[in-house]
Amino acid sequence: MRDFQEIKTHGHAVRVHVDPEPEREARPALWPTIGEYPIYDQFLYKTMTTDDERNRRFRAALAKLAPGRRVLDIGTGQDLLWARESLQAGARNALAVEVIDDAFHTAASNLAALDQPDRITLLHGESTTLQFAPKADVCVAEIIGSLAGAEGAAAVLTDARNRHLEPGGLVVPHRAATLAAAVRLSDLLPGQPIAFAESALPYLQSIFDWHGRPFDIRLRVENPHADALLSDGRPVELLEFNGDLRTEQRTTTRLAITRPGHVDGVLTWLNLWCLPDEEPLDALRMTTNWATIYFPLFDEPVPVAPGDVLELTVTATLSDDGIHPDYHLGATLQTADGGECYGSLASPHHGGPFRAHPIYQTLFPTA
Ligand SMILES: C[S@@+](CC[C@H](N)C(=O)[O-])C[C@H]1O[C@@H](n2cnc3c(N)ncnc32)[C@H](O)[C@@H]1O
Repeated sequence: MRDFQEIKTHGHAVRVHVDPEPEREARPALWPTIGEYPIYDQFLYKTMTTDDERNRRFRAALAKLAPGRRVLDIGTGQDLLWARESLQAGARNALAVEVIDDAFHTAASNLAALDQPDRITLLHGESTTLQFAPKADVCVAEIIGSLAGAEGAAAVLTDARNRHLEPGGLVVPHRAATLAAAVRLSDLLPGQPIAFAESALPYLQSIFDWHGRPFDIRLRVENPHADALLSDGRPVELLEFNGDLRTEQRTTTRLAITRPGHVDGVLTWLNLWCLPDEEPLDALRMTTNWATIYFPLFDEPVPVAPGDVLELTVTATLSDDGIHPDYHLGATLQTADGGECYGSLASPHHGGPFRAHPIYQTLFPTA
């Protein structure tokens, strides 16, 4: 396997640093984030329909909330998963909405093959632009990202609550949060190059093709090394789908360094509650299709020791599509001897600079 491969997108030839080792179970791997782009394929849908940790939580919530109710499944995917599960749980009927053309057409043929296809109404398009009646009693929407809000859940579900749900209607999931901890990227991938997994390249290509040019895409780390966290993990984004749901938010938190090492960024991961009082799904500690996201903050790794604090501010604002958030991270590392070191990163959903941070110069070398 070669260490570098080239992808071509809209007239741009992009060299990509590729891990020469094939992906293996439990081996750390670097991917681009994927869930927030309309590039889902059969493989990605399968990783979700076979995610037991995720599915048992959604199933338990539907078993409680769906019986006798009208259910709206936003982002039903090719398998109509939650529309079908809602009916099995005793829902009166289900309305399923899917925006991706291929997924919608596959869902339509899957629907035709069901025993009672007329109990599900399938619509093609974005829930935010479609009009339908009557309103639903329950809305299920698995549009949750590895970075909780990245797939646009806040904007989509604010709209669903305003236009598609009966007053007092409920949303599944109930709550999602993104947690962050201080890390160094090379500790997450010990003994491995800072390079994309080869199997991620077609997705990188599809995302750049979709946008029209390359950009500094968020970095998804699969199976990060368990000992890499240098601080406690704290929430930096909170989405209360049945409460005060905000499409834009800003959180400042202090990450206490717990052991000596070097920090060059933060690792973030999802906590998800389908019902209010359950133990949340924790994407760092459980095996699930959600992975962790690494954000570079400092150009060089900075030495840290217990007693140091990384003050982190994460801001989510709506991108120009009005749905998907752009994130901005700002950090101040305060060392026990009174020193301070500043770092920041703009992480737009799409667009923005290419090769702005050194990590992206490593991943996309020019020569
Ligand atoms: C993470 S997948 C989940 C698929 C399936 N519901 C499952 O849980 O296995 C999200 C799906 O939602 C679709 N989607 C996202 N936002 C949507 C919206 N506002 N309206 C319709 N479909 C949407 C995406 O195209 C994608 O198929």
